[in-house]
Amino acid sequence: MKIGLLTSGGDCPGLNAVIRGAVLNGVKTYDDEFVGFRDGWRGVVEGDVMDLPRTKVRGLARTGGTILGTSRTNPFDGPHGGPENISIVLERHHIDAIVAIGGEGTLAGAKRLADAGLPVVGVPKTIDNDLQATDYTFGFDTAVSIATDAMDRLRTTGESHHRCMVAEVMGRHVGWIALHSGMSAGAHAVLIPEQRVPMSQVAEWVKEVHDRGRAPLVVVAEGFIPEGFDEVLHEKGTEKDGRPRLGGIGEYVTEEIERLTGIETRNTTLGHIQRGGAPTGFDRVLATRFGMAVVDMIHDKEWGRMVALKGTDVVRVDFSEALNNLKQVPQHRWDEAKVLFGR
Ligand code: F6P
Repeated sequence: MKIGLLTSGGDCPGLNAVIRGAVLNGVKTYDDEFVGFRDGWRGVVEGDVMDLPRTKVRGLARTGGTILGTSRTNPFDGPHGGPENISIVLERHHIDAIVAIGGEGTLAGAKRLADAGLPVVGVPKTIDNDLQATDYTFGFDTAVSIATDAMDRLRTTGESHHRCMVAEVMGRHVGWIALHSGMSAGAHAVLIPEQRVPMSQVAEWVKEVHDRGRAPLVVVAEGFIPEGFDEVLHEKGTEKDGRPRLGGIGEYVTEEIERLTGIETRNTTLGHIQRGGAPTGFDRVLATRFGMAVVDMIHDKEWGRMVALKGTDVVRVDFSEALNNLKQVPQHRWDEAKVLFGR
């Protein structure tokens, strides 16, 4: 078979490992041929493809980014979008199947194309770990480990200056990165979109820690909204694709802590550092297994499905299972973490 791979949406450590896993399994087990679509769905609708021979994926598991490039193009938009046009592209390039590697938006587009009868399958991807139907997505472990390392560093400088340190991490809709990195770094407060904590409570946790002679460490997810505020607080206009542009919640939390406690406080926004560079060992293995498994799924012609991790097994699920709603941090995980806050 000839298989076309694409990476779409925000990039994520482990994308190249998926590509390598797919190509190696396809070439060795099935004698498949591979091409890559450049820059996500843009490459599909415009027929912009590159050959992906085995030699091209050598050593890729340890690299960050995506060799295919990515974009947030919607496969239904523009003069060349839509299932009929995409079918013509597939025929022209003799491509038998598309593998869409992406998050919620990408998989929603993939589902619509599969529903229209196109041979499309998926691999879930997001550092935010907010997709249903899979216990983990690759990239999450890397983001948590980068954020943990950053917070360990913030802690030592915080201790030297007797300051409160705030770290803003990614997490537009959910607080998984904040929760896990906060727990791992021993943060004294974790602020996530799922929990509308008032700033007065945050100030109390910070003061308790400061009163014990320690430097408080607070981690805040970019999508956190304190109790008593609406979403406007941390939106800064609109992205090209219509999403609200986030930014500034770390600064806001920092100013409020300083105002309410009188403790000198500094903010660090980690931003895209969390998405860059080499994947961790866990993410390399997960991404490689996903890449290998999706090729097996193609040979079983299970269109409209994606691979997922359940426990330690890679399984196959319908797109719709992943797209129901976002996987939020459940109440019991928050309650568990909260025991560690403040004093
Ligand atoms: O979806 C993953 C994510 O990391 C979000 O947490 C974040 O809001 C978004 O990507 C930012 O992506 P970009 O700057 O590429 O639009």
